[in-house]
Amino acid sequence: MSQKIAILTGGGDCAGLNSAVKWVTKTALDPQLAAHRNEEFEVIGIKDGWKGLIEVDPSDPESSRRWIEPLDELIVRTWDRYGGTNLGTSRTNPFNPKNDQSARCLENIQALGLTAIVAIGGEDTLSVAHKLHNLGQKVVGIPKTIDRDLYATDYTLGYDTALNVITEEVDRLRTTAGSHNRIFVVEVMGRHAGWLALEGGQAAGAHIILIPEHDFDVGKVAGLLEKRRGAGVRYDVVVVSEGAKVSGHEEVYLSDKTDGFGHKVLGGIGLSLAKELERLTGFETRHVVLSHIQRGGQPSARDRLMGRYFGIAAVDLILEEDFGRMVSYRNGEIASVPLKQAIEKLYLVDTLNQYDVERYNGRRSSLVPKP
Ligand code: F6P
Repeated sequence: MSQKIAILTGGGDCAGLNSAVKWVTKTALDPQLAAHRNEEFEVIGIKDGWKGLIEVDPSDPESSRRWIEPLDELIVRTWDRYGGTNLGTSRTNPFNPKNDQSARCLENIQALGLTAIVAIGGEDTLSVAHKLHNLGQKVVGIPKTIDRDLYATDYTLGYDTALNVITEEVDRLRTTAGSHNRIFVVEVMGRHAGWLALEGGQAAGAHIILIPEHDFDVGKVAGLLEKRRGAGVRYDVVVVSEGAKVSGHEEVYLSDKTDGFGHKVLGGIGLSLAKELERLTGFETRHVVLSHIQRGGQPSARDRLMGRYFGIAAVDLILEEDFGRMVSYRNGEIASVPLKQAIEKLYLVDTLNQYDVERYNGRRSSLVPKP
């Protein structure tokens, strides 16, 4: 028997993806495994996510070179040290109702002779994986997103590195903020989930943290900042999630354009909030958008390790022929869950137990549940 495993990365890039690709490859191509199972294994990378599976023409060598990358131990040897994804990524949705190309994907899966696909992605990429599995394809998922908003896993690749970037950048801003007696509003990513803002803000020691899960009152934020100045503090840092909303208002978007999954790009709340806070408090206020810097840089130790563990577990699922599942991390253990469960809802901050709606910050009491 022979197995041909394809790996692809979809959606926003992040740290840890290359580690996962490396460990799927290394595990599948482990000579001990081949000898033990008496099976041949081949691993290929599909370039640019689902787009590659649509675009490739397997009968054309030039197209195959553009969209398919054969992988072996030597090729992936150093990949885990690098951020981004060496396979490339895109936000292509083969099931986009405006341009459904799922039939083309199915054709290519067959033409390429794939016996399994490892899809590494967030909610969108994994929803495609789920649909393909429902159409009879042998797909497994690996969770990644700096937003950490995937349900059914306590960890998604890229989150820890992004959190460290936020902490480091706010540390840098703090010295200039203090020197000038300024307020700094730092806008972070996360889409509709406040994890990066909440945990990044707490790690960085931000005085105010604003998250999408709780609409905020600008006047109240200004009041909290004025109180701090009254207490002699020279500067303040406000961390605001890109998806946070002023009460009674909508989210702020960079443009009205939507991607293949119907998402608009969030952004701009940091600037409008900074202007409003300066107007209300009279304190000089600057804003910084950390933006894609959060997705860049070398993967943290945790992202390298989790990429490794998730990659190995994905091959375990393939060997067990347990398809239609996503590897996950739950209660300190590597596990797996049905893809359906991973995408059915978003994992969001619990504002009752994890957020203080009076202080606009993390909750101070961990052991006492709120009434
Ligand atoms: O989902 C990851 C993420 O970085 C979000 O936090 C952010 O809203 C979005 O992707 C940005 O997308 P793009 O890379 O298309 O600008």
